[in-house]
Amino acid sequence: MSNLPNIAINKERLWESLMEMAKIGGTAKGGNCRLALTDLDKQGRDLFVRWCTEAGCTVTVDRMGNIFARRPGRKPELDPVVTGSHLDTQPTGGKFDGVYGVLAGLEVIRTLNDHGFETDAPVEVSVWTNEEGSRFAPAMTASGVFAGVFTEDYAHAIPDQDGKKLGDELKRIGYLGDQPCGGRKFRAFFEAHIEQGPILEAEKRTIGVVKGAQGQRWFEVTITGQESHAGTTPMNRRRDALLGAARMVDRINAIALAHAPNAVSTVGVLRAMPGSRNTIPGSVFFTVDMRHPEDKALSSMAASLEAALATVCGEIGLKYECKEIWYSRPVAFDKDCVEAVKRAAGESGFENMEIISGAGHDACYISRVAPTGMIFVPCADGISHNEIESATPDDLAAGCNVLLRAMLERAVL
Ligand code: GLV
Ligand code: MN
Ligand code: MN
Repeated sequence: MSNLPNIAINKERLWESLMEMAKIGGTAKGGNCRLALTDLDKQGRDLFVRWCTEAGCTVTVDRMGNIFARRPGRKPELDPVVTGSHLDTQPTGGKFDGVYGVLAGLEVIRTLNDHGFETDAPVEVSVWTNEEGSRFAPAMTASGVFAGVFTEDYAHAIPDQDGKKLGDELKRIGYLGDQPCGGRKFRAFFEAHIEQGPILEAEKRTIGVVKGAQGQRWFEVTITGQESHAGTTPMNRRRDALLGAARMVDRINAIALAHAPNAVSTVGVLRAMPGSRNTIPGSVFFTVDMRHPEDKALSSMAASLEAALATVCGEIGLKYECKEIWYSRPVAFDKDCVEAVKRAAGESGFENMEIISGAGHDACYISRVAPTGMIFVPCADGISHNEIESATPDDLAAGCNVLLRAMLERAVL
C-alpha cells in the first residue's frame, strides 16, 4: 500500500523492554513466574502503564482489569486498531509468552512516535487479564468477558486454589477499573505471539500467518474411593482413588492418540487426598485439557473421556464426577486480517506460512467481536510454558515489523 510510511521498529528497544519486564518475577532458570493478579502481576502492569504514559498514551482500565493504552489518530470518530496480549505467566513460564504481544504493541507506538507519524484511526495496545488460566480457570477470562462469552459476575467470582476471588484480587492490586468490559468496537485486532510449537522452526519460516486456533475443552474430575490403612487393607478390598486416576491418565493420553494426528490431551493438575503415605487415597482431583482443530473430533474425545471414566471407575468400585468447566470452540480468524498479515510479511521479505494455533489466545475471543488476525514468530525447539522458552531478537523484531505494517494498513485510510 503506497500511502504507508516506510518505517521500521527498533529491535534493540523491543528486546531491552522484554528483558526489563522479565526482571519482574524472574526465576532461577531464566523464566518468569508472574501469576495473574499477584503483586508481581501488579508490578508488571505498573511498568507497562508507566511506559505507555511516557509514550504519550491515555490509559484506561476496565472492570476486568484489562488495560488499554491509546495513541490518538487524526480521526477520533474512527474505531481504534488494537493490538495486545497478556502479561500473566504460567508458574514456570517464559519471558515471551504473552509479554511479547504486549511489548510489540508498545514498540509499534514508540516507533510511530519516533517518526511523528499520525494515523487516521487511533491505535491501542491492550493487556488482557488472566489469559493463562493457571491461577484462575478457565483461560482467556477477561477477553472472554469482553467478547460476551462470560459475565463479569461469573469472572469476578472465580476462586484460585486458596479460595481468593478474581474480582477481589483485581481490587487488591488496584486494577479493578471503572470502564465497562466490552461493548467497544475495534476496527481490527492483531496479536503477535511466539508460536509455542515447533512448526515455524522446522519449516525455517520467520512468520506464521495464523488462520485460526484449535478448540479446547477443560474438565475437572473428582474420583472417590475409600481411605483406608495401607498396611492392613488387602489388595482385593481396596477402593484406591489414585489407582483409578492413574489408569485415567493413561486413558486420556490414549484418547488423543486415537484421534491422531491433530489431537492433544493433558492431565496438568492431580491432587490425591488425604496425601499421607500410609493411607490409601480416598479421593483424587485432576484436570483434563483436550484440544483439536475440529469440533466434531473434540466432541468425540469428550465422549471417550466420559466412557473411560465409567469403565475405569466401575472396575475398581469408585465413584466419579466430571465437570466441564470450559469449552472454547475452534476459531477461524477474519479473512481480511489474515490477508493483511500475509501481505505485511511478504512485503517485508519474511519467509512465512499459514498456521493454526495450538495454544489459546485472547485473539480467539476478540475474534467474536472484531476482525482479528495473529502473527507468530518461532521459539527455540518449540518450547513454551517452560522457563527456558527462548526467541531471537531478530525474529521478535520481524514479527513486530509485520504487526506495525498490518496495523498501519488498517489505521491509515
Ligand atoms: C494458553 O496459554 C494455552 O494453554 O493455550
Ligand atoms: Mn500466551
Ligand atoms: Mn501461555
